Amino acid sequence: MAQGSAFLVASLKPWSHPGLAPSAIWALRPRPSGKIQPVNVHLSPTLPAAKRLSGFTYAIRNIVAEAKKVERSGRTVRYLNIGDPVAFGFRTPLHLVEAASKAMRDGHNGYGPSVGLAEAREAVAAEYTSRGMPVSPDRVVLTAGTSEGIELALNAAADAGDEVLVPMPTYPLYTAVLHRIGARAVFYRTDPAHGWLPDVEHVRSLIHPTTRALVVIDPNNPTGAMYSRGVRLGLLELAERHGIMLLADEVYGDLAFDGPVAPIASLAPDAPVVSFSSLSKAYLAPGWRAGWLAVGRSDRLDEILAGIKKLADGRLCSTVPMQYAITAALTGDRSHQASFREALRERAALTTDRLNAVSGMTCTPPMAAFYAMPRVALPAGVTDEQFVLQLLHETGVLVVHGSGFGLPASEGYFRVVFLAAPAVLADVYDRIATFTRSFLGTRH
Ligand SMILES: Cc1ncc(COP(=O)(O)O)c(C=O)c1O
Repeated sequence: MAQGSAFLVASLKPWSHPGLAPSAIWALRPRPSGKIQPVNVHLSPTLPAAKRLSGFTYAIRNIVAEAKKVERSGRTVRYLNIGDPVAFGFRTPLHLVEAASKAMRDGHNGYGPSVGLAEAREAVAAEYTSRGMPVSPDRVVLTAGTSEGIELALNAAADAGDEVLVPMPTYPLYTAVLHRIGARAVFYRTDPAHGWLPDVEHVRSLIHPTTRALVVIDPNNPTGAMYSRGVRLGLLELAERHGIMLLADEVYGDLAFDGPVAPIASLAPDAPVVSFSSLSKAYLAPGWRAGWLAVGRSDRLDEILAGIKKLADGRLCSTVPMQYAITAALTGDRSHQASFREALRERAALTTDRLNAVSGMTCTPPMAAFYAMPRVALPAGVTDEQFVLQLLHETGVLVVHGSGFGLPASEGYFRVVFLAAPAVLADVYDRIATFTRSFLGTRH
């Protein structure tokens, strides 16, 4: 076999096969006699991508292609689809910019350790410890944003066929990564009538022997929810009792309107919890791809930690100059967060007031972050995506349909990012109101 392949490579000389197109050369096969013979195959003009990618979807960005078309037709698009504060004028704190650029000027531009620089890992460990989740630096791994932490932890935890409990609606990276692994996302509902909280008993009913992990996004994207102490304790107890890992996505932990929320593991420091966060949201630097994960102190997590480190070796390291900014962020001034939280609180109130005033629309008030998940009472047979696309085409307002976050398309949810200036948001909500009246009016 190896001999045959070597022969084939050695024989790929287009000039030795006059009349064959270069692509046909690849269809030549060595025969046992050692001579090569053209094989009659139908060559596709493009090379097929792996089939499993069909289930890897990320609606928040996928929908942008449609918005670009609308833009090309001459209409201004209001991009309320992506949670990037910098795109809406919020500025990265200067001392972080200085730390990253100084690191580059000082020549810290080579590879770093795959787990991250010791100084930054110490800063992350000290941060968690001071907030009630005691963790040592050797249980911290620096990652390319929260996103890579999610990838590493899911890959370390789940095999093909395993199950992972994921909130519905969810941040779509979880389902996308699980699909790629071949593991199954099992949804637990969260309830808009109860502040988008999960029902712990319902979560319990979904646990099977193949359940490997429970994903908890608190504070939550896409709903803006913040979980109560009772719910948090209930979820921790499930993880403890059933021996499943709790993956705590805490990237919005500093952006609850009433002030920072402690990591969930602070309520049970020995529970099997892995926490993720980054500089993307609360430190206003999403483009830096600078994040971290912290593996709780329970020795039940030692194998998972070793697995995460093994996978981290394979991708060399996360961005090194930005790791200097992580240290600066966690040990320096955070006063920007107070004004950012106030700006978010104001925008959240505007969003809820204006959308709840639209007939046929309801919106549960967000408590944190910069997302709201309103619902429009769609007529039978109409999907959330149809609503969102028509809204885009007729008004230029881009939001993301709830089914992009795992909700049933008939339920009529969509996610709004409310980072824009209040005056812009007021205009957007006027457009949504006028459009919704006409959309529902013409269909009733
Ligand atoms: C819940 C949640 N987790 C993870 C991420 C990814 O964040 P990062 O930029 O840190 O990778 C986001 C980004 O929107 C998010 O909302």
